[in-house]
Amino acid sequence: MSRKKIVAGNWKMNLDRAKAKELTAAVAARRGEAAAVELVLCPPALYVETVGAAIAGAKGTVGLGAQNMHDKASGAFTGEVAPPMLVDLGCQYVILGHSERRTLFGETDAAVNVKTKAALAAGLVPIVCVGETLEEREAGRTAAVVTGQVQGSLAGLSPAELEKIVVAYEPVWAIGTGKVATPEQAQEVHALIRGLLAKLSSPEIAARVRIQYGGSVKPDNAADLARQPDIDGALVGGASLKADDFLGIAKAFG
Ligand code: 13P
Repeated sequence: MSRKKIVAGNWKMNLDRAKAKELTAAVAARRGEAAAVELVLCPPALYVETVGAAIAGAKGTVGLGAQNMHDKASGAFTGEVAPPMLVDLGCQYVILGHSERRTLFGETDAAVNVKTKAALAAGLVPIVCVGETLEEREAGRTAAVVTGQVQGSLAGLSPAELEKIVVAYEPVWAIGTGKVATPEQAQEVHALIRGLLAKLSSPEIAARVRIQYGGSVKPDNAADLARQPDIDGALVGGASLKADDFLGIAKAFG
């Protein structure tokens, strides 16, 4: 099964507008270095338009995504961003249920589920994040936790909708810690997720869904992760803030 690899940069709440432009221009100019891999940039919401413009000549070959959104299309939700607004600014993707959203902002599987459906309805591809904490892993609960998150976050999606999404497995203990999961640890959970997707749809559809790994991915550990059969790309935090590192990771998946 050949799934097109997808490497996305989650810039989180970093950079300023000038640096966002500079980084985008560098990635766009060097996009050809990882031609076989889909690339997506996910800047802070306020910089989405700037980054979209800076993609310039690489438009259509460098994707644009947001890091979160509200589930309603409009209304009295002070401080929130609506899915159609992201579409209006040229976004094709939106990260949903990132562990920072779950742990720091109280997002539940049910909330992620509603957002996932709203993203699909708006024409966005949701990158739905799941992953266990260190405590959960050490208690031998990784499979149970990830199963609950996948089933809860994706409940009620039709097979056709499931086929459109991207799932990101991000063990919380590996995010921003420099402690990357071993390729075997990651592969085991990716295979579990694909099995869950098969139960929610069919093995044929599950075989087409891209599952990214995230958590301290760097150019020097990406190749080993990329060799695993169920790892279809990376969701990159810190290393996505440097064009060299981001492209180095993308090349490893090429
Ligand atoms: P790091 O790559 O900085 O560990 O962050 C991973 C992440 O959370 C991407 O969404």
